[in-house]
Amino acid sequence: MKTIDVCLSPDLMHLYKVHDRTVVVVDIFRATSCMTTALAHGIESITPFASLDDCRAMKAKGYFTAGERDGKKVDGFDLGNSPFEYMAGSLKGAKIAFTTTNGTQAIAKSAGAKEIIIGSFLNLSAVAKYLRHGDNNVLVVCAGWKGKVNLEDTLFAGALVELLKDHIEPDCDAPIAAQHLYNQAKNDLEGFLKNASHVKRLARLNVFKDITFCLTPDQFNVIPVLKENVLVPHVVS
Ligand code: MLT
Repeated sequence: MKTIDVCLSPDLMHLYKVHDRTVVVVDIFRATSCMTTALAHGIESITPFASLDDCRAMKAKGYFTAGERDGKKVDGFDLGNSPFEYMAGSLKGAKIAFTTTNGTQAIAKSAGAKEIIIGSFLNLSAVAKYLRHGDNNVLVVCAGWKGKVNLEDTLFAGALVELLKDHIEPDCDAPIAAQHLYNQAKNDLEGFLKNASHVKRLARLNVFKDITFCLTPDQFNVIPVLKENVLVPHVVS
């Protein structure tokens, strides 16, 4: 049977070998929810950057610049990090250069993986189906917050472990812990997360509707897949 493991923080990536795994990067609030929403709304591609300056430089090449630092839109960038910004018809066909505090850093730290895909509650079942049919063992990489573990990414990892339990077995204890946490929270994810650190941080920035949206499962059957350092849509039918 294939296996699934969960890396609870990108700072623990040195513990995992990824060359033969499909890595699912997750940053529920809000980077990977944005990426999924964007590609589901016809944006052509998203190029993720760990560095703000590298991202900014893409403007001269005709890209929209997008993302945040500490939850706030970067000065001079075209777009921030709310999924609702990526639904505009005017962005169809656009190429976006994207950088975030944690999400794009987690993608960078997953370099060397056999395959990198993007997960969120918005495409949860599509990701589960993709992994079930794939040949590779799986590692879910939780973006967390500046190296610290967070609840929402762990809950997503647990939801995946739960959905895949008849097909892919846990490799170690983190997937089992995440699965237990998800099963405890699944009937009211938003209530379970009301004291979560990033929920409070976003509330201080007056961001509320993104929370509800990012926790809504199965809005899209699109998975952002990293091909030559660019995220492009893969539709799961
Ligand atoms: C991140 O990548 O750190 C997050 O997406 C932050 C945010 O919610 O804007």
